[in-house]
Amino acid sequence: MKTSITLALMTATAMQTAAITPDSAIERRIDSIMSRMTIEEKIGQMTELTLDVIGHRNSDGQFEFNEDKLSEVIGHFKVGSILNVSEMALTRDEWHKVIGRIQQESMEKIGIPCIYGLDQNHGTTYTLGGTLFPQNINMAATFSTPLAEKAASITAYETRAGSCSWTYSPTLDLVRNPCWPRMWENFGEDCLMNAEMGKAFVRGLQGSDPNHIGQTNIASCLKHFMGYGAAATGKDRTPAYISPADLREKHFAPYLAAITEGAVSVMVNSGSINGLPVHANKELLTDWLKTETSWDGMIVTDWADINNLYTRERVARDKKDAIRMAINAGIDMAMEPYATDFCTLLRELVEEGKVEITRIDDAVRRVLRLKLRLGLFEHSVQNPEDYPLFGSEAHKAVALQGATESMVLLKNNGVLPLKNNCRILVTGPNADSMRSLNGGWSYSWQGDKANEWAIGQNTILQALRNELGSDRVVYEPGVRYDDQGSYEAELAPEIEKAIAAADKADIIIACIGENSYCETPGNLNDLSLSANQRRLVSSLAATGKPVVLILNEGRPRIISDIEPLADAVVEIMLPGNSGGDALAGLLTGRFNFSGRLPFTYPKHTNSLTLYDHKPSEQTETMSGAYGYDARVDVQWPFGAGMSYTTFAYSNLRADKTDFTVTDTLTVSVDVTNTGNVAGKEAVLLFSTDLVASITPDARRLRAFTKIDLKPGETKTVTFMLPASDLAFVDYSGKWVLEEGEFDLMAGRETLRVNCTTTHPFSTPNR
Ligand code: BGC
Repeated sequence: MKTSITLALMTATAMQTAAITPDSAIERRIDSIMSRMTIEEKIGQMTELTLDVIGHRNSDGQFEFNEDKLSEVIGHFKVGSILNVSEMALTRDEWHKVIGRIQQESMEKIGIPCIYGLDQNHGTTYTLGGTLFPQNINMAATFSTPLAEKAASITAYETRAGSCSWTYSPTLDLVRNPCWPRMWENFGEDCLMNAEMGKAFVRGLQGSDPNHIGQTNIASCLKHFMGYGAAATGKDRTPAYISPADLREKHFAPYLAAITEGAVSVMVNSGSINGLPVHANKELLTDWLKTETSWDGMIVTDWADINNLYTRERVARDKKDAIRMAINAGIDMAMEPYATDFCTLLRELVEEGKVEITRIDDAVRRVLRLKLRLGLFEHSVQNPEDYPLFGSEAHKAVALQGATESMVLLKNNGVLPLKNNCRILVTGPNADSMRSLNGGWSYSWQGDKANEWAIGQNTILQALRNELGSDRVVYEPGVRYDDQGSYEAELAPEIEKAIAAADKADIIIACIGENSYCETPGNLNDLSLSANQRRLVSSLAATGKPVVLILNEGRPRIISDIEPLADAVVEIMLPGNSGGDALAGLLTGRFNFSGRLPFTYPKHTNSLTLYDHKPSEQTETMSGAYGYDARVDVQWPFGAGMSYTTFAYSNLRADKTDFTVTDTLTVSVDVTNTGNVAGKEAVLLFSTDLVASITPDARRLRAFTKIDLKPGETKTVTFMLPASDLAFVDYSGKWVLEEGEFDLMAGRETLRVNCTTTHPFSTPNR
């Protein structure tokens, strides 16, 4: 069967200015509100405090206000924003009450609604009973932006159901060091992937009109601007050193794409780039983010990061000096989050002329614009009853699809799908844990309460029992996490018990990886998988029974010594509440695999590399007198991922082979399902510049899409590739499209095209 379907796609095209068209009615309202505001009220709008300042969670788990504190914070200091939870998630009805009380106080005392922010990072992190989607690293592995957009729109709906209108999401840090404990919060190592997923999230969260964000949508907040994922040490909140070219071409790209799509707020990287903390970097915050793009959105700090300028980074003498630096650099709102002295000190700085009132007015305009865009003056709270689809089966179905499409089959010596009637041993510390399926930002910051609160959801073990019948499943973990300790803590292993249990099984499903963690508590010193877990796998492999490794982890823990012992390997990352069900369906063949790695899986702790490395990193043996061997050996490359069917690529072609900067190349490739079952295929278009004035990247992803193919079916995928997408940032920090040849690659197909004229771009963003 041969059907020919053309999918016309636009890639992340050259991005231009004017992020959001201003709405004159909103601007007039801002003028009118600001004309009546005192300096205290203005500074209050620039202040954000955490919920714990105005109350606490009582022994019944209910949030109880401290009315005196509430009155001090809102009545006296006029604070305009509150964030976060007290310990853990609340139900949507509790959120409705808590945010309702804050809004009532804000309208009475200030006449301006509060903007409440939550980290609803992979669905409703902090709303009990809502939908938890796979983490962002999994959404990237789906290579499906429509799916990401759908998940984000459900997150918005379920968040607004509890009257919260702002989320600190999506996270668009390019992960350039896989040791970083926040790797899984992002969309992997590639800038186009982060840009496209970022745009999908902005559309899903905010809807189609950023000036009028509806009652089932919420404001996005891109984070953490920028370079956070490139920490040299791989530890959280440690310095990054990034070349000017990489900073503009790769790290800035996802932010630029997402603000051009309409993102209305941005949170700043807690760390430093090339020695300067980003919270004090006027060039990046004001020039790049606001001025060059004409972006009129709002910039909020990360947690306590003004304080960090003097307590940790030592670029400021004291708190007042730190506030001066940050506000003058372009910060509009301070996530303090505990103290009100920000208000007093900033007022003093204005009186002393160290912060201009025009800067304060600019910041306040941006805060008010955000509140007006959200319609908060008219609808500061929502009725939970108006959101009947909250936590519904329809929403869960999208989470299940996301989890299914994100799991990556990396190796299969024919043991998968599982044979009918086979008996399985389910083992490993991740087999019976909702906590490890979800990762951090799940009911609580560290995700440590998921086993208690993921009610009605299935662990891998439960899902396999449902799928195969309990009599075919033996469970013996062999290694367990110590849920009372750090995320790395494990109890004394009981590997002998697992070996004994293997006797009763035909095949071993080893669920290994990491327990949940988030931010700095997730730092590590060795990327290798834990010694106990590696010993569990090698001991089980010695029984002679086939072993399937299920990798349930937030970053690629090195398994090079046990991978050769496995007959199949599935990377499931952090698939969320539906992860167990998705995996069970995939292992039996009821579903088919279609995920691909959005990162490079390393093989050795000291050979960390990225797919867009420079060619010298893959030189086999360097010629000349030294005979250097610079070969980098990875476990699995970016884009790896198999299926129960096979796909063949043919006929990669373009409508022109010679082009200049004004051209758009129409690039097509035929993809055929050559196997016996239906499957989905992520089609990836790469390029490489054969010769350039700075060493070109070995490969760059230029476009991607995902298609469905029945057995024997062929589809033609067509990408519209603007020639300017092949430009790069040169040694002087400017965009240029250089004449000369490029190779375009899809599957194993390669096509050479030629740029006939060099074009230097005159604007900073092409
Ligand atoms: C994290 C942010 C988060 C913020 C508010 C910080 O510690 O770095 O990602 O949005 O807290 O919870």
